[in-house]
Amino acid sequence: MRYAGRVFWILIVVVLSVGGTSFARSKVFDVNYEFYPYYPSLLKWNKSTAQFTPPEVCAGCHSKQYAEWTGSVHSLAFQDPVYQGELNRAVKAVGKEISRQCEGCHSAAGMVTGEIKKPGISGLSPIALAGVSCDVCHSVSGTTHWQTPSHEPENGSLILTPGVDTARGQKLVKRGPFKPKDNCGSGFHDCVESPLHLRADLCAGCHQVYHYEDHFPLEATYLEWKHGAYAQREILCQDCHMVDFSTFLRAADEFRKPEGKEYRHFFNGANYLIYFLASGAAKKAGDDKKAGVIKEKFEMAVKRLQSAADLEIFPVYRDSRLAEVKVRVKNIRAGHNLPTSLTNVRQMWLEITVKDSKGNVLMTSGGVDAKGHLTEDTRNLNSEGMGKDFHFAVDPWLVTSFSRHDTIPPRGYRDVFYGVNVPQGAGKISLEAKLRYRQADQGVAEAVLGAVPEDINLNEIYGLTKIPALPVVDMVTKQVSFDSTK
Ligand code: HEC
Ligand code: HEC
Ligand code: HEC
Ligand code: HEC
Ligand code: HEC
Repeated sequence: MRYAGRVFWILIVVVLSVGGTSFARSKVFDVNYEFYPYYPSLLKWNKSTAQFTPPEVCAGCHSKQYAEWTGSVHSLAFQDPVYQGELNRAVKAVGKEISRQCEGCHSAAGMVTGEIKKPGISGLSPIALAGVSCDVCHSVSGTTHWQTPSHEPENGSLILTPGVDTARGQKLVKRGPFKPKDNCGSGFHDCVESPLHLRADLCAGCHQVYHYEDHFPLEATYLEWKHGAYAQREILCQDCHMVDFSTFLRAADEFRKPEGKEYRHFFNGANYLIYFLASGAAKKAGDDKKAGVIKEKFEMAVKRLQSAADLEIFPVYRDSRLAEVKVRVKNIRAGHNLPTSLTNVRQMWLEITVKDSKGNVLMTSGGVDAKGHLTEDTRNLNSEGMGKDFHFAVDPWLVTSFSRHDTIPPRGYRDVFYGVNVPQGAGKISLEAKLRYRQADQGVAEAVLGAVPEDINLNEIYGLTKIPALPVVDMVTKQVSFDSTK
């Protein structure tokens, strides 16, 4: 018996160790490196002698689109100091390979041509510096996501074809929404009608970010949209982000598509911080006009953010006494979850104050402490990243799952309950609830901006002598009162 028992245990050990190897982490993404030469970016470049063109050249004939795009988050996507700081940290932590993934979305043309060699901005051509430029979008001739295991857009799964070689030399080709008229492009470029530019798939390749190795969706704006109420009614990314503020409200509220002439090249979202920094840079460079234009984009982003949510507050009575308040946070106009994309970095939290009839504070929750961190009791409706060791993680090369995801789906809501201890005779209870937002925790912002490459001098370019306290936007403020007994 004892011998049989030992054999049994040896067998178990053998089976487990064999099992251990055969159950090694399964490959979620079997990479065809020939098909994806820039992996971990899934971009492809349909190479010819036709080169990419900087936006300033397009501006010669398309001044309206250029003026709208200038100072947009797309125009800043590569020079953004927040991006450059994080890129520098990524390359130090993981190695140079990862930078192709980042650059594939933040400066696609500069990545495929091999011009960008390291974090930083010095010595680069206008086309690399221009980030998500005219020529990146209008050279997109197709997608590469059908060849991935998930068949979903991600990590720059786009094909760039800035032009073609012909018997009579090279020719630039630009793709857009219209059937080309005669002499479209004035001899500078040919025009091709592109249905892809009228679909969310154009945006999706860059607005769906996966971990560079583990194929975990770090940012899922596209899939959030695709599985939400707006996609079902064919209200696309373009219909809210490529229009002015009032047209966006109409598209979101009435599910009404903008008309052709209403499309504008703003690409305005929620990131007011990037405009705050960029308008400081324009001012520092002595360009007050540009600083003013970017200031308007700052205000547009704040307005979009403030239009995105609403709050409803309900008292909950138990044994005839007020026991709890329920705060319902509603996503009323964001076409994807609120907040979206870098959900483990963005912060959207509730600040609550409950008072009795004499003004004594009965309960508070949510606030920013002296160091700029949210207090322990804060209900933050973002997500929390988790690394392979199941510990808290923030950086995109470490986060391989979420331990919490409290973002709110399109047209959806989330209820947050607060217990209130109401003394006898408290009378009428008043409550103030605020929904507040900022781009990141103060400590995270300091770490990232503190890591910008040497050729980005925050004082010389942005006029920053230290990292300022990140501005907070109040998205919604509500005051209500109700009886303490029922
Ligand atoms: C992020 C991608 C993107 C970038 C960057 C971009 N465009 Fe566009 N552009 C589009 C889309 C999408 C449309 C189609 C909008 C619609 O009609 O639905 C468009 C439309 C156009 C049109 C047709 C007329 C119009 O305004 O609708 C022109 C011309 C044009 N873009 C030029 C430019 C120029 C010049 C730049 C740079 C200053 C630029 N685009 C940057 C995506 C982009
Ligand atoms: C699939 C495309 C894609 C890839 C790959 C990608 N990004 Fe981004 N990145 C984005 C988009 C889209 C946003 C904007 C999302 C938002 O506003 O929250 C963004 C935003 C950011 C921001 C926030 C910028 C700000 O001003 O708040 C940082 C930092 C950043 N990316 C760094 C990186 C780094 C570092 C890498 C590589 C490890 C990387 N990104 C890879 C598309 C991408
Ligand atoms: C020499 C002038 C000139 C330059 C430079 C130029 N374009 Fe055009 N482009 C035109 C004309 C003319 C049209 C016809 C429609 C119109 O008037 O907007 C056009 C149309 C377009 C369209 C709409 C095509 C369609 O059928 O939907 C896009 C997109 C476009 N251009 C992108 C660009 C981009 C990107 C650049 C820079 C790489 C650029 N253009 C540079 C003259 C020019
Ligand atoms: C080639 C990649 C690429 C494509 C294509 C692209 N984007 Fe972006 N987009 C980015 C990156 C990268 C950022 C963030 C840059 C940063 O924050 O540093 C961004 C930022 C934005 C923002 C600003 C977000 C904010 O935080 O305020 C909006 C809005 C946006 N994109 C909408 C669109 C729409 C709409 C389309 C399709 C018509 C599109 N994008 C196509 C790469 C892309
Ligand atoms: C119904 C309107 C609507 C549609 C459709 C929509 N958005 Fe947005 N988007 C918003 C609003 C409002 C905000 C500001 C609140 C927020 O951050 O979610 C926003 C914010 C963003 C941001 C900024 C996130 C950040 O952290 O700074 C990005 C990026 C973005 N949208 C991209 C997209 C893309 C890509 C699509 C299509 C797949 C899309 N949006 C579809 C309304 C819309």
